[in-house]
Amino acid sequence: MGTREIIKKRRSIREYKDKLISDEILLDLIDCGHMAPTARGEEPWEFIVIKNKETLKEISRLTNRNALFLKEASACIVIFSRPTKYYLEDCSAATENILLAATSYGIASCWIAGDKKDYVPDIKILLKAPSEYNLISIISLGYPKNDLITKAEKRPLDELLHWEKF
Ligand SMILES: Cc1cc2nc3c(=O)[nH]c(=O)nc-3n(C[C@H](O)[C@H](O)[C@H](O)COP(=O)(O)O)c2cc1C
Repeated sequence: MGTREIIKKRRSIREYKDKLISDEILLDLIDCGHMAPTARGEEPWEFIVIKNKETLKEISRLTNRNALFLKEASACIVIFSRPTKYYLEDCSAATENILLAATSYGIASCWIAGDKKDYVPDIKILLKAPSEYNLISIISLGYPKNDLITKAEKRPLDELLHWEKF
């Protein structure tokens, strides 16, 4: 698949097969994540790969209704950041890189909110993250259970595209 095809194919998928993702692929997803653009070259990110079922279940429980599906995932990647000026932009770019790389492997994923959520302190304690770090995103990963997925509607281009001026 070419880059544009991968970008257009990626969707949030929340149902997964009971099939493991190899460490080689997980490592490559992090490699893709850390290649994201980063303001002033700061690379404020840290990535935690979680495969342990009990930990996945516990994060799913802590995130309440936001990510019930996480307990069925094969793995997740949690992105933490040092509190730099552009931490949110940097780590959002890294998150998207990982989502796209996962799509290229035929792996389903979903971005689960981190930043701004009231469950962040509990997850930081669970994962032993230093208190000054921000939790940006949790990415659930797994091979898709169904070929047919319900896709969220996108706004049509002619509604959001402006040429030259707003
Ligand atoms: C910052 C951010 C936070 C999100 N948080 C959640 C979440 O907590 N739980 C969830 O199920 N989906 C979450 N999503 C996924 C969105 O619901 C999804 O991207 C949106 O519905 C568009 O669908 P698509 O990803 O298939 O294009 C989040 C997406 C973003 C960008």
